[in-house]
Amino acid sequence: MKNNEQKVMLTGVRPSGNLTLGNYLGAIKNFVMRQNQYKSYIFVADLHAITSPRDPAELKTAINDCMAMYLACGVDPEQTIMFRQSDVLEHGIMGFIMTFQTHMGELSRMTQFKLKSQNVGKNGIDTGLFVYPPLMSADILLYNTDVVPVGLDQQQHVELTRDLAGRFNKRYGDTFNEPDVYIAPVGNKILNLQNPTEKMNKSDGPNPGTIFLMDDLKLVRKKIMSAVTDNESVIRFDESAKPGISNLISILAATTGESIEAIEKRFAGHGYGDFKREVADAVCGLIGNIQTKYQRFKNPDVLDAILTRGAERARIVAAETLNRARVALGLK
Ligand code: TYM
Repeated sequence: MKNNEQKVMLTGVRPSGNLTLGNYLGAIKNFVMRQNQYKSYIFVADLHAITSPRDPAELKTAINDCMAMYLACGVDPEQTIMFRQSDVLEHGIMGFIMTFQTHMGELSRMTQFKLKSQNVGKNGIDTGLFVYPPLMSADILLYNTDVVPVGLDQQQHVELTRDLAGRFNKRYGDTFNEPDVYIAPVGNKILNLQNPTEKMNKSDGPNPGTIFLMDDLKLVRKKIMSAVTDNESVIRFDESAKPGISNLISILAATTGESIEAIEKRFAGHGYGDFKREVADAVCGLIGNIQTKYQRFKNPDVLDAILTRGAERARIVAAETLNRARVALGLK
């Protein structure tokens, strides 16, 4: 049994475009708030970014930007092991091993796969889109992870990880820790401001419904002020009848920590203009702060030093776990 200090928390973000408010509120914030309570790992999931073809120069920039953004969002490199996934080669082999524990049916049922495979290119569906969940399982299992803070869209993948770990342990003997997912009660699925039935996605590119953490603050305000709402003029949380207003309430609640009920009460009798102005103030305050810190951390030498040290530390644990899995499988 692990005691509390030995418990492990891990999360990662794919460097596929600039990070969004959804990435922050759904995952990074929840990681940062708890990083002192666990042995913590955060990584740039760069292997997950090549599941579809990418421009190499643009990817390289996105990896560094993602690291600088982690730091700007409050990840503490003294406390947390920060690394780039592809620097730790064990992810590749372990990804292979986990893929071979997985059934086609399980992967076909993944909601993210079903959603993303609807936009098929002329060459059909990329295999990467299909097989990336077991790579994600490898990312998690290599570090004996206990808790994985993610947004709602990734919950199913962490649950699959738990199933795969259990399946492997049953077949080959106790090898992996079975992780739990942590989904924040508020802010776990931030929606597109212009289309509040769809998730806010970083891969959407410049978009009036997506708030990027690097957006100019004037633009952030404009996006919030022109968010789609409804004709009722009542600030009430009701995701099916009022998706736009409910999304803005979630954003305000997750940004400030105020409860949804308190927000509803405070804005009783107010119009949407007043409400949106307050959401814009809160989000601009948050993002302004992150942007100031981001400029400080965007130093390639500083980032390289953190990544090198992080990969060295991550590799030790990852190699131990991979070794255990190889012995269990009879490969060693
Ligand atoms: P990615 O890069 O799509 O998203 C990074 C994190 O942000 C969360 N998120 C959101 N949360 C709330 N509202 C939104 N609109 C929103 N959009 C994104 C995601 O749920 C995620 O937590 N496969 C993963 C990266 C990954 C990973 C891992 C995560 C690879 N290996 C191991 C945890 C553990 C992904 O593509 O996330």
